[in-house]
Amino acid sequence: MTPTKPGLRRASCVSYGNGEADEAVFVLFAGRPKSAQGKAGQAIDAKMAVISRQPRMPMDTPAALYQSSLTSLPLRVRGKVRDIYDIDGSHMLIVTSDRLSAFDVILPDPIPGKGKVLTNVSNFWFAKLRHIIPNHLADIPLAQVLPDPDERAQVAGRAIVVKKLKALPVEAIVRGYLIGSGWKDYQKTGAVSGIALPVGLQLAQQLPEPIYTPSTKAAIGEHDANISFGQSAALMGADLAEQVRTASIRLYAEAAAYALERGIIIADTKFEFGTDAQGVLYLIDEALTPDSSRFWPADQYQVGISPPSFDKQYVRDYLESLDWDKTAPAPALPAEVAEFCAAKYREAEWRLTQ
Ligand SMILES: Nc1ncnc2c1ncn2[C@@H]1O[C@H](COP(=O)(O)OP(=O)(O)O)[C@@H](O)[C@H]1O
Ligand SMILES: [Mg+2]
Repeated sequence: MTPTKPGLRRASCVSYGNGEADEAVFVLFAGRPKSAQGKAGQAIDAKMAVISRQPRMPMDTPAALYQSSLTSLPLRVRGKVRDIYDIDGSHMLIVTSDRLSAFDVILPDPIPGKGKVLTNVSNFWFAKLRHIIPNHLADIPLAQVLPDPDERAQVAGRAIVVKKLKALPVEAIVRGYLIGSGWKDYQKTGAVSGIALPVGLQLAQQLPEPIYTPSTKAAIGEHDANISFGQSAALMGADLAEQVRTASIRLYAEAAAYALERGIIIADTKFEFGTDAQGVLYLIDEALTPDSSRFWPADQYQVGISPPSFDKQYVRDYLESLDWDKTAPAPALPAEVAEFCAAKYREAEWRLTQ
């Protein structure tokens, strides 16, 4: 039992029943360390989350894909999470892997099935929000792009064919709640990215209305930097910057209202946009996923405290508990932390899309 900061204790593995590996029950919990010292059969603390790993059905623990290896298409680039292949001059194949980046460093272990969750959740939002702005999805079947069944199987559920667009040089961040770097900025300046806010707001408080706070897109290993709206206009032109701001706020507002009905607060999110040869604006990359947003369970939300999170917060908290300086290479993840994180991604997907 390694003591850690509040939020996540080093997971312990407690074996129940006949002790066979398939029947092991992994417990992870936020809160009191003494909970972990209980023996099999003892009442389990209410704060524990229990993931039962009973004999598996194929859907239970999806196979992990850390890195794709398609040979029938030329690899264009590997991002932190996505492998991108060229199809032709105007289309690309985006494969979302199970890699996870935390503190802008790619972790050495996959989160099994995460790429499929991100793909499914993004596709869900692309369809739902199409009336606000067109998205990069191309109407080309995967079988046409990857005729080899083995290659298709390798990336099933995590590959999309997209229009190759010119990515704009900003991350379009919308904040509905005061948290993270927004909270830090507010404490120092009373504003977030130069947008003045009422005095006396508390940590995690909902803002009077969502605000648009763009940042630069940093290279791998670098950190994004917040910029003002004026700086974003200098980077891409005032007209495009205005279109991006308007679309981002509308996308966030509609998605946040929908998610709230499903018990999820989308505290903030990051969009990416691209333009085609005619200068038409498209939503690209991923949209409103647990990777690109802060998802909070609505029933545990309380102003003044940092809410528990659906997303990779569990992994971040685990990493914070280590003596790691947050530069590459990142430490290995215990299997139970990866599995717990994977389950949280699946839960967010289920809540939003079922
Ligand atoms: N339709 C598109 N056209 C051009 N670039 C895109 C498109 N969709 C996504 N991208 C870019 O592909 C990359 C996605 O890979 P990812 O692993 O998420 O990268 P990153 O490490 O930059 O987050 C991002 O740089 C994103 O801007
Ligand atoms: Mg990305």
